[in-house]
Amino acid sequence: MVKTIVVIGAGVMGRGIAYASALGGYEVFLTDVDRKSLDKARQEIDSIIEQSVERIKITPSQGKEIEQKLVYSMDLRQCLATADLVIEAVPEKKNIKQRVFQEMERYAPGHCLFATNTSTMSPTEIGSYGKRPHKTIAMHFFNPVHKINFIEIIKGLETDDATVEEVIGVAKRMGKETAVVNEFPGFITSRISALVGNEAFYMLQEGLGTPQEIDKAIKLGLKYPMGPFELVDLVGLDARLNNLLYLYEKLGEKYRPAPLLEQYVKAGRLGRKTGKGVYDYSQENERGVHL
Ligand SMILES: NC(=O)c1ccc[n+]([C@@H]2O[C@H](COP(=O)([O-])OP(=O)(O)OC[C@H]3O[C@@H](n4cnc5c(N)ncnc54)[C@H](O)[C@@H]3O)[C@@H](O)[C@H]2O)c1
Repeated sequence: MVKTIVVIGAGVMGRGIAYASALGGYEVFLTDVDRKSLDKARQEIDSIIEQSVERIKITPSQGKEIEQKLVYSMDLRQCLATADLVIEAVPEKKNIKQRVFQEMERYAPGHCLFATNTSTMSPTEIGSYGKRPHKTIAMHFFNPVHKINFIEIIKGLETDDATVEEVIGVAKRMGKETAVVNEFPGFITSRISALVGNEAFYMLQEGLGTPQEIDKAIKLGLKYPMGPFELVDLVGLDARLNNLLYLYEKLGEKYRPAPLLEQYVKAGRLGRKTGKGVYDYSQENERGVHL
């Protein structure tokens, strides 16, 4: 039975996952190698709590409880000592995930379940980085985590049914619906989203229209809730590029990243998190949370 959740990586996703875990009543440790990221995570989570209270989504006493359930720490070993479930949310790079899973294996108790928030990668391969592939699974959350009530759950080859059941239970307590799928690069959602998002960059590169016109056409004409550029600015252009590079390697030509996307990433235009992506957010509220 899961009581304590450790979230590794306090970036765009990790902070949302930590909030959702505390909202679900779990004791939560949020950890990162970067102090600044951890500090920013605390600020953003405090903002989400504040705004959720203002909007009567939670009561003030629930807000206090959530705050008390969260521990922010750079001491990975200490965080892992009492973990029942670890949710890894470090960058989509094989070498980083491999190192983190090896550390998880070293310091987490034997009963602890391992989940990865990978957008594209194989939970079977990630499971092979530790010694408990039957307890390893992907829990693919969506951004912004506190607003999107869905998790795609991906089984690896060795993932056992008990692990699947346990993480479905955790998702329910976080207030999230789930779909359980078998492993394939990009699963359901990233496979579609990466394709649409990449195509939009090709359109921009070809001079088909402005980002505003392209987003407007997709939203109004195709009934997407967000335009592809609004979405990539939220996701992070670097995160999208990493997904595309992985899918290009695994699934071939149709996922080759648009050169314009690569150029934006080289320029540091990573989206809302850096204040500028396809659009410019430098004038927006400094709390950086958009409920
Ligand atoms: N951004 C999205 O919309 C989105 C959506 C679904 C899934 N994902 C996936 O979630 C994962 C994280 O993505 P993100 O967008 O939150 O990335 P991010 O770059 O915003 O955050 C990653 C965090 O991990 C930290 N980190 C790096 N190495 C670490 C280590 N060894 N130990 C602990 N922390 C470490 C970084 O300091 C950073 O704070 C990726 O696998 C990504 O594909 C992202």
